[in-house]
Amino acid sequence: MNKILVIKLGGSTLGSHDTIVADLVGLQKRDVLPVVVHGGADIVTDWLRRLGISTRFVKGLRVTDAETLKVVVAVLAGLVNKELVAAIEALGGKAIGLSGIDGGLIEAKVKDAEMGYVGEVVKVNPAPLTAILEAGFIPIIAPLSLQSPSESGEKGSILNVNGDTAAGEIAAALNAAKLVFLTDVAGIYDSSGKLIPRLSPVEATTLLTSRIASGGMIPKIEACLRALPAVPITRIIDGRLPHALLKELEGEGEGTTIA
Ligand SMILES: Nc1ncnc2c1ncn2[C@@H]1O[C@H](COP(=O)(O)OP(=O)(O)OP(=O)(O)O)[C@@H](O)[C@H]1O
Ligand SMILES: [Mg+2]
Repeated sequence: MNKILVIKLGGSTLGSHDTIVADLVGLQKRDVLPVVVHGGADIVTDWLRRLGISTRFVKGLRVTDAETLKVVVAVLAGLVNKELVAAIEALGGKAIGLSGIDGGLIEAKVKDAEMGYVGEVVKVNPAPLTAILEAGFIPIIAPLSLQSPSESGEKGSILNVNGDTAAGEIAAALNAAKLVFLTDVAGIYDSSGKLIPRLSPVEATTLLTSRIASGGMIPKIEACLRALPAVPITRIIDGRLPHALLKELEGEGEGTTIA
């Protein structure tokens, strides 16, 4: 059986490293194959501020000029990625950090010229991930991408991609058993703020068009819908709770299921 579990770690949950990292090591010991995609938008914003570079978002995506891109790459593929790998290794887990650039994992095209170096995923090449998994390591992926060689003929541009979108595309490409988003809310809330335990794809689409889901929840729901034909179950859960991942594996967790 395919036991690949694709996990998106929200930047908002990265502070609660302790149990998330311990859980990842625990999953690895239980023969689950975790594949982790991390966010880190707030940490990027903090470093841009320290460097005196202003930043702005359009529909949840960061407008990325050449200078901003350098900081995005340095912070996501460098600092955030390596801190996660170091924390996993420190607890006796085995992890390798990479970005969507490495091994040509994620190919993308420029989404909208006005957004700058922001990529729309064109293709996932899962070979680097299967090699890392077969070697017994957890791949820890920074959401960056390589400009598709078929696009423009431009040489090797790096593009910034949304972490949720990257997780959905990777889960689909790997035919993962499950896609789980760890975020800073209990799951998807309805218009009265109540947690929705379960949604069909049609209901999830309605939620998007009704604007009950907004901001950072939009790319998560879209990623679940994108993954669903290939991935049987997708979940959005509270990453702030202790041992959220282990509980998820044991089927005890709350949150929202889209399936
Ligand atoms: N209907 C909804 N139910 C729950 N949360 C919602 C809803 N609509 C919008 N949100 C927002 O989505 C946010 C989660 O997305 P957000 O992008 O902030 O976090 P993340 O993706 O986990 O972290 P990062 O973007 O740093 O990787 C919640 O904090 C909440 O404010
Ligand atoms: Mg987000």
